[in-house]
Amino acid sequence: MDFMKELFSEIIYSPVNMVLMAGIVYLSYKIYGQAVSPMNPPPKPQLPPLEKQDMTIRQLKEYDGTKNDGRILVAVNGSIFDVTPKKNLYGPGGSYSPFAGRDASRALALFDVTVVKDEYDDLTDLTESQMSHVREWQDQFAEKYDYIGRLLKDEEKPDADAQDGEIDNTLEKQG
Ligand code: HEM
Repeated sequence: MDFMKELFSEIIYSPVNMVLMAGIVYLSYKIYGQAVSPMNPPPKPQLPPLEKQDMTIRQLKEYDGTKNDGRILVAVNGSIFDVTPKKNLYGPGGSYSPFAGRDASRALALFDVTVVKDEYDDLTDLTESQMSHVREWQDQFAEKYDYIGRLLKDEEKPDADAQDGEIDNTLEKQG
C-alpha cells in the first residue's frame, strides 16, 4: 500500500507528471471517447443542393442512391424531392428503398411499399380518397425536403430520339 501512496503522491506533486497525465487523459478521450461514443456519430458528408430541373421517369432512375454521388430523389404526385438526408430510410437496405429514384405516389396511396411502377403512372384509376392521401404525403415531403422539379410524362421529354434504340410505343399506349 505504501508503494501505491508513493506512486500517487509522485503523480500529484510533480508538475511534469501532472502534465503527462493530462496529456494521456486527453489523448485517450480523443482516441476512444470520440470514436466509439454514440453521442458523436461521424458527421455526414452533405451534398450540394441539386439544380432545379424537371425529369422523366428514366432520368429520375439515375438518382436511386447507388449511382454517381449517391443522391436519392423520390417523386410524389408529380413533384420530385431530394430525400438524400434520409438515406437510412431510402438508401440501399432501407425500409423505403423501393421508392429511391422512382415515383412513390401509388405506393403511398395504397399504403403498400411494393406497388411501384417503372413507367410513367398517371394515377387516374385512384379514388379521390386515395389521391387525397397522396397529396398529404406530397405536402409532408414538401415541408421536409428540397423540391427539385416536376416529374415529366415521357412524351414531354425534350430529347426522346437521343436515347437508346428502344421501340417508342408511347402512341400505341395512348390508343
Ligand atoms: C407496419 C408498417 C409500418 C411501420 C411500423 C412504419 C413505421 C415508420 C416509421 C417509424 C417511420 C419514421 C422513420 C424515421 O423518420 O426515422 C416511417 C417513415 C415512413 N413511412 Fe412507414 N411504416 C410502416 C409502413 C409504411 C408503408 C406501408 C408506407 C408506404 C407505402 C410507409 C411510408 C413511409 C414513408 C414514406 C416514410 C418516410 C417519411 C420521410 O421521408 O420522413 N410506411 N415509417
